[in-house]
Amino acid sequence: TQIPAPRGYAIQLRVNMEAIDARGNVKPQGGTLAVFEPPSGPGVDIVVQGAVDSELQPLLAALEGRDQVQIAAWPFWRGRIGSKSVGVSRTEVGPINAAAATTLAIVHFRPALILNQGTAGATGPDLKVFDIVVGEATVDYGAFRSAHRDAGAGVDLSGWAPMPHRLRLDGKERIPFSAFPGDGAALRVATETPYKRGRVVKGVIGSAFELNRELDRLTWVRKTYGAVTEDMESAFSAGVAAGFRVPFLAIRVISDSEFHSPEMQPIAGEYCASFVVDVIKRIEPARGRSTRAGRGDRGVNRKYGNMAP
Ligand code: 5AD
Repeated sequence: TQIPAPRGYAIQLRVNMEAIDARGNVKPQGGTLAVFEPPSGPGVDIVVQGAVDSELQPLLAALEGRDQVQIAAWPFWRGRIGSKSVGVSRTEVGPINAAAATTLAIVHFRPALILNQGTAGATGPDLKVFDIVVGEATVDYGAFRSAHRDAGAGVDLSGWAPMPHRLRLDGKERIPFSAFPGDGAALRVATETPYKRGRVVKGVIGSAFELNRELDRLTWVRKTYGAVTEDMESAFSAGVAAGFRVPFLAIRVISDSEFHSPEMQPIAGEYCASFVVDVIKRIEPARGRSTRAGRGDRGVNRKYGNMAP
């Protein structure tokens, strides 16, 4: 019989688990396997997230050759935008959905960057509807510890102090995060991307599973956490990304402002997603990527960071 011509390569790798003693004898040894990842192909350049369909439509329209996968409650689409491979994720609304969808996206798509985008409310009078905020950091403004007060003493916001999230990065020390940093390189690209519907400004993006409409409460959120916007997902997505050391950026459009335009404008979500399509096209493709999540620009943004080295 004829042996067919060789095609492709087979590579065998072995981990040596033997110790050689002084006399040159080989003895078997044991050890703990800390991480095992079967080969799963290259990851995507970017995963881009939106909570609801109206925040995703322009992204899905721009996604070439897309296919869809559903993982439990969360749909994902994979395709290309310009020269980038992109995963689009509908996270659904709120922290639980945001954290779950982000974890799934990181494990299944191994992105070099996560962009969380969509609508938000303004926490002050400066920002107008359709302005876009690019997140130099994201913060959970629902995280606080109050001072003790006796029964009947009432509720006093002045005794509420922000409480950091703690992540035991790499299983070592618990690192406190008073906010989660935005990726410096992606932030620069976003702030330089043209946008016609309003301004593009840098700022701290805030999240909680809350819909605050009291002006005093919004002002307290702004003063206490530095957050200029309120949404329900960004900070939770950012926290999961930080835990996996995946670079992250939040981009939010003002869809409503209790200060001068309380009616939610759903079209704002489309404006934001169209802007993000342009941002994606302008982002430098990730170079020297490994297939493992967690490469790239670490320890960015020292101001908010607390990122481990
Ligand atoms: N407060 C909180 N979330 C808001 N969103 C838009 N405006 C606000 C606001 N003022 C976003 C949330 C959620 C949906 C209600 O829209 O992120 O996904």
